[in-house]
Amino acid sequence: MPVKSAVVNSKGGVGKSTSATNLAAVAATMGRRTLLIDLDPQGTSSWLSGAEYSDPVRTAAAMFQDDPLLPSQLAVPGAFGFDVVPAGPHLAESEHWLATTTLSDYRLSMVLKKINPRWLLMT
Ligand SMILES: Nc1ncnc2c1ncn2[C@@H]1O[C@H](COP(=O)(O)OP(=O)(O)OP(=O)(O)O)[C@@H](O)[C@H]1O
Ligand SMILES: [Mg+2]
Repeated sequence: MPVKSAVVNSKGGVGKSTSATNLAAVAATMGRRTLLIDLDPQGTSSWLSGAEYSDPVRTAAAMFQDDPLLPSQLAVPGAFGFDVVPAGPHLAESEHWLATTTLSDYRLSMVLKKINPRWLLMT
């Protein structure tokens, strides 16, 4: 059965990126086909996963635009057996304009409903 997990905490520096990356690595080690989506503009999880963006347009921010790209169009292989939708600098801009955009709270869930079923766990 597919599993979706989110690692969220409003406090900084408490281990969110480290935990998300390690959860993804453990799931991959257990044989689960795993996708890590990095929604932090700092890109720490992408970096820890060995999957930094190469194209600034094809990062997690593209999931929030009016004509969104899907995770399957954005994922790149990480170094530890799982795929990653990398963070990039546009995520910082997304945070600002999403604050005044209609249905902004639902943009991510609408995209994730179209997730490719080959990925079973997302963090
Ligand atoms: N379980 C742990 N034990 C000790 N140190 C840890 C642990 N988890 C993370 N750290 C260290 O704590 C620091 C912050 O971790 P991390 O970057 O994962 O936090 P974060 O919550 O994602 O931070 P930010 O709010 O800046 O995104 C890093 O130096 C990391 O190596
Ligand atoms: Mg972090």
